[in-house]
Amino acid sequence: MIARGNIKKGGTDAQGMDVSRIKQDFPALRDGDLVYLDSACQTLRPQCVIDAVTEYYRDYPACGGRSVHRMATRVSVQMDRSREAMAAFLGAKDAQNIIFTKNCTESINLVAKGLSWMKGDVVMTTDLEHNSNHAPWVDLTENIGLKRVIVPTGPGGVFDLDAYQDSFRSQVRLVSMAHTSNVTGTTIPMKEVVEIAHDHGAMVLIDGAQAAPHMPVDVHKTGVDFYALSGHKMLGPSAVGVLYGTDESLESLKPLMLGGGTVGRADYDKVHLAPAPERFEAGLANYSGIIGTGAALDYLSKIGMDNISKHEHRLQRVLQERLDEIEGISLVGPDDPDARSSVFSFNLPGLGSHDVAMMVDEMAAVLIRSGMHCAHPYFYSRGINGCVRASTYIYNDEDDMHRLVDALLKVSKTFCN
Ligand code: ALA
Repeated sequence: MIARGNIKKGGTDAQGMDVSRIKQDFPALRDGDLVYLDSACQTLRPQCVIDAVTEYYRDYPACGGRSVHRMATRVSVQMDRSREAMAAFLGAKDAQNIIFTKNCTESINLVAKGLSWMKGDVVMTTDLEHNSNHAPWVDLTENIGLKRVIVPTGPGGVFDLDAYQDSFRSQVRLVSMAHTSNVTGTTIPMKEVVEIAHDHGAMVLIDGAQAAPHMPVDVHKTGVDFYALSGHKMLGPSAVGVLYGTDESLESLKPLMLGGGTVGRADYDKVHLAPAPERFEAGLANYSGIIGTGAALDYLSKIGMDNISKHEHRLQRVLQERLDEIEGISLVGPDDPDARSSVFSFNLPGLGSHDVAMMVDEMAAVLIRSGMHCAHPYFYSRGINGCVRASTYIYNDEDDMHRLVDALLKVSKTFCN
């Protein structure tokens, strides 16, 4: 049987989460003395996820949804289980509304390439999108005459609801925005964004890559049309993504690829597609990855997304309390730690972001990310040459935050004048 981790339901301490216990579930943290603060890129994986993947390859490495022998049936059952777990995690009405892809980028591309666009249709984004929610729209503007509206965010990347409302014009067909920014950690008010878009007759696609791992999400309550995410940012194996869509929105979407698994009936001259989600999942799937994602969701659900959100805000406050110690630090994000979700982005005076990231790794084994974080237009428009980003998750505690700040102090005192 698949091990489901050490976490007991409601297994929390007075602070809300027993991080020292959680750390023990992550083999990558067991032997070394490192602090992993690059979870916005990829999280570490708990033993239960590794076990689920290993168990698939060891015990039942067959395909799902095709053969009817016992091994294949076990794959199909586990795949269904993961789909159901994802639907429950997102508050989706039905598991059929969950499509497995290879990452959030593919999910967004599926919408960009799958909707039937008309010349002059408008797609609205913010100025703070990841390239995966920018490049597909640039491609469509260049190739089929799609129009863009880019809503400016306020200082620190805070979403400006008035600017959003004022930016609407007729022919906005789709609003496509990051739920939480991978650069600033700011979060949009999804319910209001959806309501306003729907009032204007537009559909909404939310890039949830940096939000779904860190806070409760309810796609049904918010009424969002599409919600995209990546499993590897929420403890799951690499290269598993999800596109949630309502029945109606999935109905309006053409698949990116066709082939085995997508077909209900095929004659020589005609193919009738299977219903969603099969019609969007061509070819053999990443079975171990999807099954591992199910184990990750079980693990997260036992901790509770509310607990995770509160815990990460607490970590941001710890960083904030020590901010004044680091001379000249400039935040790329809001001053209010409660507006930052799990991301802390900054620069030190006179130092390149890659230099800072390498030095804190070298000096203190603190692993952070540097550069433009696949959000080049935001940086170029502000004349900033990238930033350093520390991003937290469930296995980080207050000591980790102090270790980061201590390392930054050392770098700053040694190299910044
Ligand atoms: N989008 C990922 C990040 O922000 C890769 O690191």
